[in-house]
Amino acid sequence: MNIPFNVPPSVAFQNGHFTAENVVKKVTRSGDLVGIFHDHAAWQAIPAQTPFYEVEMLDSPQGEGELYVGATHLHPGRVGDEFYMTRGHFHHRREQGEVYMGLRGQGLLLLQNERGEARLENVSPGSVHIIPGFTAHRLINTGTDILSALAVWPTMAGHDYAALAQGFALRVVLQEGKIQAKEVQNG
Ligand code: PA5
Ligand code: NI
Repeated sequence: MNIPFNVPPSVAFQNGHFTAENVVKKVTRSGDLVGIFHDHAAWQAIPAQTPFYEVEMLDSPQGEGELYVGATHLHPGRVGDEFYMTRGHFHHRREQGEVYMGLRGQGLLLLQNERGEARLENVSPGSVHIIPGFTAHRLINTGTDILSALAVWPTMAGHDYAALAQGFALRVVLQEGKIQAKEVQNG
């Protein structure tokens, strides 16, 4: 009997694009990111249709124990002095973690626990990031290329964006020609 060697989905290391039959894509545009960047006037000056990031995901079955695989492609740029970033979220099921891996470009992963303590990890091709449960996460593109990162997370985790209405405790900006993380007082 011939047992077939099945062909799984693949991800291109160069750019994080999937080769698979069922890829779902979602674009997040400037206009979707209301109140995310601290320079409101600079954000308003950017056309609302401007794409900031795309997420492509394998269309996986959902359920307890099932996993999603996705790739985020975050464009380079700044809103005022602040680098482009994803909205960022806690998981709705707070105990659920996630793994990110850098594929392309340079950036930072901002992590924040439920006590509001934030930290940053460098993201670069091959970097592996273990996001524990109870930890909010946001990607920041500090480079000149697209920042692409692979992510694997439980399908039951869900996204809780509202819990971060006060924002993260750190912002990453370009000041005096340097990439700097600044503490935020009121989110
Ligand atoms: O599951 C994840 O953490 C990622 O796939 C993010 O959803 C993706 O980077 C987009 O970020 P956000 O959901 O915060 O807009
Ligand atoms: Ni997540």
